[in-house]
Amino acid sequence: MIRRRGLLGGAASLAALAGCAAPPRRLGSRPQPTFQQPTAAPAAPGGDGALRSIAFGSCIDQTRAAPIWDTILAGRPDLFLFGGDNVYCEMPCTQARLRRAYAQAAESPGMGRLRRSVPHLAIWDDHDYGLNDGGAEFAFKDEAKAEFLDFWKIPADDPRRGREGLYHAQVFGPPGQRVQVILLDERWFRSPWKRTDQRDAPGKERYLPDDDAGKTMLGEAQWRWLEQQLRQPAELRLIVSGLQVVTEGHGWERWGNFPRERQRLYRLIADTRAQGVVFLSGDRHIGALYRESGGTPYPLYELTSSGMTHPWRDAAEAGPNRLGELFTDLHYGTVDIDWAAAAVSLSIRDIAGKPRRAATIPFNQLQVQS
Ligand SMILES: [Fe+2]
Repeated sequence: MIRRRGLLGGAASLAALAGCAAPPRRLGSRPQPTFQQPTAAPAAPGGDGALRSIAFGSCIDQTRAAPIWDTILAGRPDLFLFGGDNVYCEMPCTQARLRRAYAQAAESPGMGRLRRSVPHLAIWDDHDYGLNDGGAEFAFKDEAKAEFLDFWKIPADDPRRGREGLYHAQVFGPPGQRVQVILLDERWFRSPWKRTDQRDAPGKERYLPDDDAGKTMLGEAQWRWLEQQLRQPAELRLIVSGLQVVTEGHGWERWGNFPRERQRLYRLIADTRAQGVVFLSGDRHIGALYRESGGTPYPLYELTSSGMTHPWRDAAEAGPNRLGELFTDLHYGTVDIDWAAAAVSLSIRDIAGKPRRAATIPFNQLQVQS
């Protein structure tokens, strides 16, 4: 998603838009990703250590102040999930520009402290992929992937180094208290969007729903992998999706622009009888909670947390399946699990750590009914 009007003013805004629309230049010279054994990220709780507190965020401009890291760190989360746009590559993105963005992020005191002290997982979105609203067509995704693997210190033997894309999953905790985190890659394989016929019109700002059966969000390899993941046992599954999944009411990037693919996702959850699915999404520079029960195997909740450094303060849009209003100030998301009560709480928290939108969901509501 582009930095919108209201985030950047005047000439800067126009430059950002023009930059996003321009074709990418040839990326710089680094033919091979570095495969030296990196310093591993802190080990996440595993074995008998059940997760209870997970923080989540996206859209982190490394050139801006990020005081919200202090709030997130004070909350001492067991795990932090980076939901994409974890850095902003200056557009048109080159490998040198992306590497510079990561170098700036590495010097961010807050992000640095988190990366050193809190277990974390990451997936990318368009701004760390390298092409605004980009998909499979991006010619230099291999170079962008190499930068991602290096920055996030992905081990040399990790499957992500040997296959296309960056999708990944991990299960934390013992039987009975398992949290599965599934991170979807919605850039590497994704087919082109259908462009709007009325730019900036409410509900069709950039793209229109496309019923083309030949278009894909995840690509077949990732779809097959996702089915295998959904068949793994877990009490709670956090599906991290850069793009909003269940959300209706806007025409920016979202799963609803490929309605067949979204229905395929709902059907796959039903067919695999995967209990406990909750979506965590980003990209939009707003915070919000959503709940969809039409055509889904059970009520599907979505927590969108996006705007750790530059929220879209004048955002306004329809929200037919949104729970409450948009939150348009600085924020992050939390997932708090009460294993004794068998319930999960989703929250949008402000710069003070105070919940501003929240929903608590008993696990028994997140089950495929026979
Ligand atoms: Fe994005």
